[in-house]
Amino acid sequence: DDFEGHGVWRYADALPFAEGVSIQEGATPLYEVPRLEESIGVETLRIKHEGMNPTGSFKDRGMTVGVRVAKELGVGRLACASTGNTSAALAAYGSRGGMETLVLLPAGKVAAGKIAQASLHGARILEVDGNFDACLDIVQELAAKGEAYLLNSLNPFRLEGQKTIGLEILEGFLADYDAVPDRIVLPVGNAGNTSALYKAFRELVQAGELDEDDVPKLTGVQAEGAAPMVEAIENGADEVRRWDDVETRATAIRIGNPVNAPKALPGIRETGGTAVAVSDEEITEAQRDIAGEGIGVEPASAASIAGLRKLRAEGVVDDDERVACLTTGHLLKDPDAAAAAGSEPEPVPADTAGVLASIASERSSE
Ligand code: F0G
Repeated sequence: DDFEGHGVWRYADALPFAEGVSIQEGATPLYEVPRLEESIGVETLRIKHEGMNPTGSFKDRGMTVGVRVAKELGVGRLACASTGNTSAALAAYGSRGGMETLVLLPAGKVAAGKIAQASLHGARILEVDGNFDACLDIVQELAAKGEAYLLNSLNPFRLEGQKTIGLEILEGFLADYDAVPDRIVLPVGNAGNTSALYKAFRELVQAGELDEDDVPKLTGVQAEGAAPMVEAIENGADEVRRWDDVETRATAIRIGNPVNAPKALPGIRETGGTAVAVSDEEITEAQRDIAGEGIGVEPASAASIAGLRKLRAEGVVDDDERVACLTTGHLLKDPDAAAAAGSEPEPVPADTAGVLASIASERSSE
């Protein structure tokens, strides 16, 4: 159709099909952020804002491929466990493909915008009395019983679509700087993106299109309260220990059992990257910093900036590096977090004199 070859599907050569169930995903902005670049102290910083996808997160890139496969297979019901964004994308792409969708969410731990999307796009929403990892255990069992087609990032076709994030970043840097980035910093939950980007780069190296030494250092960021990958990287462990109790304001990455860890750990290690944990306060501060450049992201996304700032301060990241930070979801996904991080509206009387008096007075801090 008209959208053939747009966004994700511009990279059809790197994908299993030439087209998918599409809502024009991909081709997201790679923003310049000069003030952040200077305050963090790196040579170049660009923000790849995946919040600018059709449903407001990078999940759309995976769903356009995954739902296409499901349609091809003729499955009746699509399902996922989700901290929110996957459920929103599944609901939208499933309904576009004309399929029934079922989502399992951790009760009370999913941001309002995401539930609203899943709901309006017609997903059947089950709120589980447990965390995301428990939801994913259940959905895997449902899939094994043939009750549904699984569209979490365990599904390899999802990750094929998400490879295009890496391809777009490389292309953008090559166009603007004639060089690929030294480092890509990204938030980590289930470690799907980490795995997908690593696969994309390996394929480019194998095809002779990217020098092995030029592969960007994959640098993962987790919230302190949900940091099993960071623990494994710091301990040099081959396996990730499942955390049963997780907590963070960045609910999208409130995950204790990153299922793609076996693929993501080598990706971080072999590219010379690292992983770092940040506090909820650092995440909120970073969300404000990015907002100060006019870019609205949800808390999990701001973790990438918080992590970069921390690694730069520790000297792990050098001042001469060219860095891309991935922001994975839009600010409006989690309006409550945004409102809490921003300033309070000030009540005023309905007359100009009252408004003028308010403007003249000290602005109340949050
Ligand atoms: N950022 C956002 C906004 C997310 O929604 C997620 C994952 C991640 C980062 C982590 O990405 O799994 O590739 O390491 N959200 C999933 C969901 C778990 O259900 O929406 P990852």
